[in-house]
Amino acid sequence: MPSSHSGLTASPEWQALLAHRDSLQNRPMKALFADDPERANRYFINGAGLSLDFSRNRLTDEVLTALMDLARSRKLEDRRAALLRGDKVNITEGRPALHTALRNPGTDTLVVDGQNVTAEVSATLASMEAFVEDVLSQSRTGFTGKAFSDVVSIGIGGSFLGPKLVTEALHPYRESGLRCHYVANIDGTEISETLAKIDPETTLFLVQSKSFSTRETLENSKVARKWFIEHGGNDQAVASHFMAVTANKAAAQKFGIDPSNVFPMWDWVGGRYSLWSAIGLPVALTIGMDNFRRLLAGAHAMDTHFCDAPLEKNLPVVMAMLGIWYSNFWGAETHAILPYDHYLRNLPDHLQQLDMESSGKRVDQQGKPLTYHSGPVIWGGVGANGQHAYHQLIHQGTRLVPADFIIPLQTHNPVATHHADLFANCLGQSRAMMIGKTLEEAKAELASSGMTDADINRLAPHKVIPGNQPSNTLMMRKVTPEAVGALIALYEHRTYVQGVIWDLDSFDQWGVELGKKLGENILPRLLKPKDSGETSDSATDNLIALFRSANGL
Ligand code: F6P
Repeated sequence: MPSSHSGLTASPEWQALLAHRDSLQNRPMKALFADDPERANRYFINGAGLSLDFSRNRLTDEVLTALMDLARSRKLEDRRAALLRGDKVNITEGRPALHTALRNPGTDTLVVDGQNVTAEVSATLASMEAFVEDVLSQSRTGFTGKAFSDVVSIGIGGSFLGPKLVTEALHPYRESGLRCHYVANIDGTEISETLAKIDPETTLFLVQSKSFSTRETLENSKVARKWFIEHGGNDQAVASHFMAVTANKAAAQKFGIDPSNVFPMWDWVGGRYSLWSAIGLPVALTIGMDNFRRLLAGAHAMDTHFCDAPLEKNLPVVMAMLGIWYSNFWGAETHAILPYDHYLRNLPDHLQQLDMESSGKRVDQQGKPLTYHSGPVIWGGVGANGQHAYHQLIHQGTRLVPADFIIPLQTHNPVATHHADLFANCLGQSRAMMIGKTLEEAKAELASSGMTDADINRLAPHKVIPGNQPSNTLMMRKVTPEAVGALIALYEHRTYVQGVIWDLDSFDQWGVELGKKLGENILPRLLKPKDSGETSDSATDNLIALFRSANGL
């Protein structure tokens, strides 16, 4: 870890936390549980229909107070207000980040830079509603008069991950028979496999791109349009089959999309926060507009909780500060997202972009290099599958791996005793991570199986599990539209709070630009019939040569 001499690490609040960490080094969580029968009740909070058990953390009341002192010393309450009222919190791009306005059904008018944000949001929701109604009622049809059966959403990053997550999470709420396909990657396989499944007469294409300049999306959209025309469509038919969601209406029009088929986006919505805008159209087309509004209402309920709940009882704040605790004071390099629900299986992917594009930063808001770590690696996957894959490393590896277990209390699909089984697995894992197994316990276990002393001594060390791995358990009654909205909004605010502590711009992502640019420079060298003789580094040059020779160039 870099040496610390910035204001943050020298602050008394930071120093107090370092002292708390030292005093907790020899007090494992299981001792904290043994000392306090009320622990599970005291470290349990609710908000917006979600419940958080955070008792399985390396936490005491003193640590919790110290973490909140740190949050207050970073003026978290002011910074939260700044986000919600539309201040330009994205300082490098001079923009607000008003994803909360997208899900605010209130009548309070929010004007930012002379733009009536509330009115724009309401008008867009109304036009989404009309469009969804027209498609679902079949008053809008394909160019041969047939009803739409498939929607292909073409977009990447934030224009893909959130909608995909929610479409799959809310599968039990689908109201239309529309099949929803997502094409993100510039990998011919993805678009080819999708086109092979659909009928041009009954397919709606949504080109989803805030900038309308993302190469993956534009190239896939060109392929889709060409295929559509080759399979019976024409320019006029393109107008009834291709929609766009973008902040760059002119580029969409230039691409050939009828201006009346363009839904707006705005600079004040970040790509990874755009699910709540018309980028959510594939979701709305699948689950219907009423359920889409329920999703927004769940997110709004979390916004209200984030805004009003005291910091100590505030779900995003508590989860954010626990993340800071492990990243900055205990050396955790990753954070695992472990949803125990098939419908939430894409949550880790979405949170990876949300968190790692937001907190993957190396300078503070003034552009000075950070002297402390910023965001950890976010990873994870659905339970119980992960138990048979990467949980081994959490149980017996050498690293600290804080984890969020996420599970509904009820299932949409009661099958035999499956849900109880799943729940038992989830609780079993978090308990095993906490209590572990001592050498004495391992030896006693082996002895009871009648093993010789020599074998016991040889095997027992391999069976020791250190435990003391922290975890949160986040619960909802069921995976409903409201719960999914609240869950995603919770992680958005968690990310923002951490950005406040680390003094980051959580809403830009300059790092991804260099790779894009270099890729664009390399492309002509792969395509030209004759090697141009240009050079980069020897590794790039060798690999270009390999590609050219494998492809007969
Ligand atoms: O990966 C960079 C990025 O700009 C993301 O932040 C964004 O979500 C994605 O590309 C797609 O951008 P667009 O919606 O403009 O096509």
